[in-house]
Amino acid sequence: MQTDLKRALPETIVSGQPITALAPMQDVTTLPFMSVISEIGSPDYFFTEYFRVHLQSNLEKHILESITRNRTGRPVFAQMIGEHIEHLKRATKDLLKHNVAGIDLNMGCPAPTVYKKKCGGGLLKEPEKVDRILGSLRDVIPGLFTVKMRIGFEDTQNFEAILNLVNKHGIDLLSVHGRTVKEKYKSQVHYDSIKTAVEICDCPVLANGDVSSALKSREILNYTGAAGIMIGRHAIRNPWIFSQIREYESTGRIRRIPLQEVFLYVQTLYDALKKPWITDKAQVNKMKKFLNFIGQGVDPDGQFIHLARRVQSERELFEILDRFMLSGSERYFADEPYEGLVARPNCE
Ligand SMILES: Cc1cc2nc3c(=O)[nH]c(=O)nc-3n(C[C@H](O)[C@H](O)[C@H](O)COP(=O)(O)O)c2cc1C
Repeated sequence: MQTDLKRALPETIVSGQPITALAPMQDVTTLPFMSVISEIGSPDYFFTEYFRVHLQSNLEKHILESITRNRTGRPVFAQMIGEHIEHLKRATKDLLKHNVAGIDLNMGCPAPTVYKKKCGGGLLKEPEKVDRILGSLRDVIPGLFTVKMRIGFEDTQNFEAILNLVNKHGIDLLSVHGRTVKEKYKSQVHYDSIKTAVEICDCPVLANGDVSSALKSREILNYTGAAGIMIGRHAIRNPWIFSQIREYESTGRIRRIPLQEVFLYVQTLYDALKKPWITDKAQVNKMKKFLNFIGQGVDPDGQFIHLARRVQSERELFEILDRFMLSGSERYFADEPYEGLVARPNCE
């Protein structure tokens, strides 16, 4: 059932500025990571990693806590992935018992195990199914219902049809990752397709994909006309990016980040992710996922990343942090990743 009711999106931190959102990232956008980000500079909106929805699914406790124990002061949208209407409706009703800003549907995940089950990015091959899912969920979501999608599966032949369905079912906010499912994560982002989404859609659109700095955010907003941006990997590397965007939007300047502050970020993240029962080595290994991204802005030669990938203990980790971030004269974190430094892992 289509509805004409206008539902208001949550206010941005600075009124009148473009919306900023932290992209959902599996095993990354957890409660502790969101808390750390919020201490450094919150985005306007958070999204959970996806809740998997199927016949036997219950809301995963560790994901749910990023909603129930959210202390960021900012709204959290709950993302679901699935393809069966009744199960998606059940999960939606369960999620709506909690303090969610809205329900978000994943139509972009490129993992073959997901799209082969016709979930995530797999839905982009079947507009009729998207029509049924969006219509059924819209009926049971009185508040904000949002969608995050890629621009197609192999090509963009269904893109406009799906954007029209976004309009038909009164979706309240659309995040567009400007790549096809087959393009995964590394190809050029098709900002022209995001521009098309902005032109076609009645709702605000968030531009997503390689928004790497406050300057790049402004360029992308100018080009696409999007209402805001959504940032994933570059916020792991540079969690100051949301406050830098706010500053750049209001003053045209960006504060440079001394490497000492990057040290504090890593230290805070280390403490936040620490669990009493995991070993020193396991904890250090968990940090490597984050260090891979952070290291892209530490030194142009990639020495930090090289060594960070090999550390085996807390002591070794803090030795290299000390060496690259605290020793010697004051140095700054790069605004953009140094050329040629590739972060791994790079997948959903
Ligand atoms: C480690 C990782 C996990 C991700 N998990 C999700 C997810 O759970 N749901 C989702 O919609 N997208 C997920 N994504 C995709 C991101 O939300 C985002 O669309 C993509 O990384 C492109 O944006 P970026 O260039 O700002 O990282 C994930 C990406 C990464 C790198």
